[in-house]
Amino acid sequence: MQIITSVSEMMSLAGRLRAEGGRIGLVPTMGALHEGHLSLVKIAKDRGSLVVVSIFVNPTQFGPSEDFTKYPRPLEADLAACQAAGVDYVFTPSPEEIYPKGYSTFVLEEHIAKPLEGASRPAHFRGVTTVVAKLFNIVRPHFSVFGQKDAQQVAVIGKMVVDLNFDVEIVVAPTLREADGLAMSSRNRYLTHTQRVEALVISRALRKAAEMVAAGERRVDRLIAEATHLIGQQRRVRIIYVSIVDRLTMEAVKGEITPGKSVMAIAAWVDEVRLIDNEIL
Ligand code: PAF
Repeated sequence: MQIITSVSEMMSLAGRLRAEGGRIGLVPTMGALHEGHLSLVKIAKDRGSLVVVSIFVNPTQFGPSEDFTKYPRPLEADLAACQAAGVDYVFTPSPEEIYPKGYSTFVLEEHIAKPLEGASRPAHFRGVTTVVAKLFNIVRPHFSVFGQKDAQQVAVIGKMVVDLNFDVEIVVAPTLREADGLAMSSRNRYLTHTQRVEALVISRALRKAAEMVAAGERRVDRLIAEATHLIGQQRRVRIIYVSIVDRLTMEAVKGEITPGKSVMAIAAWVDEVRLIDNEIL
């Protein structure tokens, strides 16, 4: 496994690999890798391609009062996990490498990025689309794997790829959950035992909604009311949003859902830890 920290080195490597006929699969990450990330790596490997994992805690997608400085950066452990998973290249640039002094160009998706995460984290998707566009230009992947756990991110990046004519296939991997149902996330490591137990209500609420749909319920207001009621029973959990949206446009679904086309998306604070999760309904 080769570790690359410079943009120019990564760009010449990508050019060389492509010239030799190699297929490149990119798994973009911010590090603090867990089984969920490694499942994305496995999907890339199973496609028989060379796998590049990028590890970069992207400053532009964090708001001023968010957890950029305290975001976990266990690089040694991440590299060991990548090595064990059979990753071919790790691209781990510094912030200055990606955003040199005087950097001033950003990519903005202006529709899908607006609600949900976009409403409560205003500059978030501008940072995500900018860094992912840069990674696509630097690593030149044939395909890139993202987790359904970040449903809105997947939709925004899919739209960016179409709108800006990136020749990159977006592969979406199912959300991996802990045995108790908690969606895997690098931020789970912030949770104390008590907070973690209360956080489980988020996946329980999503499961309940899926069960209601399986039993024939279609009404958005009833599905949201039940999820909100369940979450409201936990003292430490404060809802940021519980919404049912179209899985491609992220527009709020009105009236009734069409099974398979909607997503229930939840964001909540568990004390000071912000968690998101979703379920396709
Ligand atoms: O999902 C993430 O970890 C990040 O948003 C991504 C896609 C790596 C961009 O920084």
